[in-house]
Amino acid sequence: MAEKKVVETTENEIAVHWQEEGLFYPSTKFIAQANMTDETIYDRFSLDNFPECFKEYADMLDWYKYWDTTLDTSDAPCWKWFVGGELNVSYNCIDRHLEKNRNKTAIHFVPELLEEKTEHITYQELYVRVNEFAALLRDFAGLKRGDRVTIHMPMSAELPITMLACARLGVIHSVVFGGFSGKACADRIEDSNSRVLITMDSYYRGGKLLDHKANADISCELAEEAGQKVDKVLVWERYPGKYSSKTPMVDGRDYSVNTILKDYYGKIIEPERMKAEEPLFLMYTSGTTGKPKGCQHGTGGYLSYVTGTSKYVQDIQPEDVYWCAADIGWITGHSYIVYGPLSLGASTVIYEGIPTYPDAGRCWKISQDLGVNIFHTSPTAIRALRKVGPDEPKKYDFEFKHMTTVGEPIEPEVWKWYQKEVGKGKAAIVDTYWQTETGGFLCSTLPGLKPMKPGSCGPGVPGIHPIIFDENGKELGQGAGKAGNICIQNPWPGIFQTIWGDRDRFVDTYFARYNTKPDSKDWRDWPYLTGDAAVQAEDGYFRVLGRIDDVINVSGHRLGTKEIESASLCATEVAEAAVVPVKDDIKGHVPDLYISLKPGIDITDAVAKKISDTVCDEIGKIARPRKVWLVADMPKTRSGKIMRRVLASISNEKDVGDVTTLVNPDIVKEIKQQYDNSKK
Ligand code: WTA
Repeated sequence: MAEKKVVETTENEIAVHWQEEGLFYPSTKFIAQANMTDETIYDRFSLDNFPECFKEYADMLDWYKYWDTTLDTSDAPCWKWFVGGELNVSYNCIDRHLEKNRNKTAIHFVPELLEEKTEHITYQELYVRVNEFAALLRDFAGLKRGDRVTIHMPMSAELPITMLACARLGVIHSVVFGGFSGKACADRIEDSNSRVLITMDSYYRGGKLLDHKANADISCELAEEAGQKVDKVLVWERYPGKYSSKTPMVDGRDYSVNTILKDYYGKIIEPERMKAEEPLFLMYTSGTTGKPKGCQHGTGGYLSYVTGTSKYVQDIQPEDVYWCAADIGWITGHSYIVYGPLSLGASTVIYEGIPTYPDAGRCWKISQDLGVNIFHTSPTAIRALRKVGPDEPKKYDFEFKHMTTVGEPIEPEVWKWYQKEVGKGKAAIVDTYWQTETGGFLCSTLPGLKPMKPGSCGPGVPGIHPIIFDENGKELGQGAGKAGNICIQNPWPGIFQTIWGDRDRFVDTYFARYNTKPDSKDWRDWPYLTGDAAVQAEDGYFRVLGRIDDVINVSGHRLGTKEIESASLCATEVAEAAVVPVKDDIKGHVPDLYISLKPGIDITDAVAKKISDTVCDEIGKIARPRKVWLVADMPKTRSGKIMRRVLASISNEKDVGDVTTLVNPDIVKEIKQQYDNSKK
């Protein structure tokens, strides 16, 4: 059984500063064109019609062979969707659009530098490039169906080309966020047993050309030490034909894709007929332990789900220009930059750089220049743009019909700025709540059907039936006024299939908590535990409050506190480490790192810096602690557990509460003093 955890954020606590808000209604203009305005969709996707309702999504795809079992529960809770069916994801995202939309732009790639031209890749061009690269992967790299490949690439047109080429061959891709370190990439190479790494020499960020290939060398070295040798590193060039990294290519291991590709020009690869339940990709995410887990997503279920939700929740129409400003290295980018939109034959925008380069108007300039009318981003980006350029949207001529927020709770006042200034009061907004594990949206309003409520994600999307349980498994109903653990009562096609190589951890983490019959093959016995706390208002809308486990959400990116702690322990001076989330106006949360040093080591700024740098080397810059507090000792319980709650109170300038039961209550005062002094 999973350890029982307490929901720490109480409704009481949040209600103080975050009230239920009034409703906003989509415009008649939006409703008139929306993909979904039929209320009966909620009946069609009711639990009574489960699981057959999801045929509606699967029918949006082209199948080589139609399935015979919609949901196979024989290996509960590892669900299999559309069993017996065969399809190929790259065929569905490319080939099937050629007949009618060969010349339509599939991908607009916007380089960060203003002086570089945007690339408009048509479906025909995408077809050619994916086929050529698939030929290279098969014939040069020797990859075949079921092999895993690690991809560590920045935002570029070549990233989806690489993913789709893998999908064409049935190769399972594991994309690692480009901003992650070589070490983080090595861990994922090792866990997935990838013998091929695909990377890019360099990319722009904040106006600087970063040497990305350097990471590949670190990854290969560390992966090999851990027992996984990388035979081939395939390096895309940011400027084709011109290698732009200071790190030398390693003879016999590193190959320039752009050079070798010439041998494969014009090659066409027949797509593999994949079984619906064969894996499409792995996406590693943070959990309660230091080791990230490889969420394994399937083929037919996943693609059906992201296609259906892209159509109804993102409301993508053939003539729209859709821009999701997330990174493809996260699940949002997989589902809602690449697979969902391309499966619908949409035009999707990929932007290389940061939203504030060269100034805070960049997003609005891109939107104006490309005629973007659907915009998708995170509350962190919205908060940052609101802070640094509140008047920028007014200066550009663009009009969004639809906007999305994803990844974290959005404060009502930030939501209202987004609605008024970015949406110019006209756009329908969806606040989409979901996770790496869930493949696609869990909760959101359907934009043509339901009103919006700032700060609430809305009800479950069609076919998702959320339920809030208290600690004892009792349902907290609508309007209960109390927070609990938000779970999903039923499986859905987008849910991940398992944790790569660790079924026990999968069952334990996500299902054991509320399952009372471990042998049951009935899906009703297996509510999915999201790991989030939420409240449900009288009207059925959910408000997600945050994680109940040891995960911290920095700028909408999931980091494990344990992951950061174990990274800091790589600095030889560190004896003990504790990470706590600190509220931040822009990023939502940032990590504070408390460290007790080994005996004999002096507390100096240099040591603190070294520890901070170590965390960045191990994980990546997004994990850089706000501050490293070198403390004489950690507050501990009598059983020796570090009291992170107490440290979190200090970092967030809250009352530390009763600490008398600690083994060393005096240290709390001392740390508090240290914190107060640093503010002077
Ligand atoms: C949080 C990102 C509030 C939540 C797609 C979840 C949200 C975690 C929202 C998953 C939202 C995501 N409102 N909180 N609309 N969307 N979250 O795996 O805590 O990177 O469990 O997936 O982000 O993060 P992940």
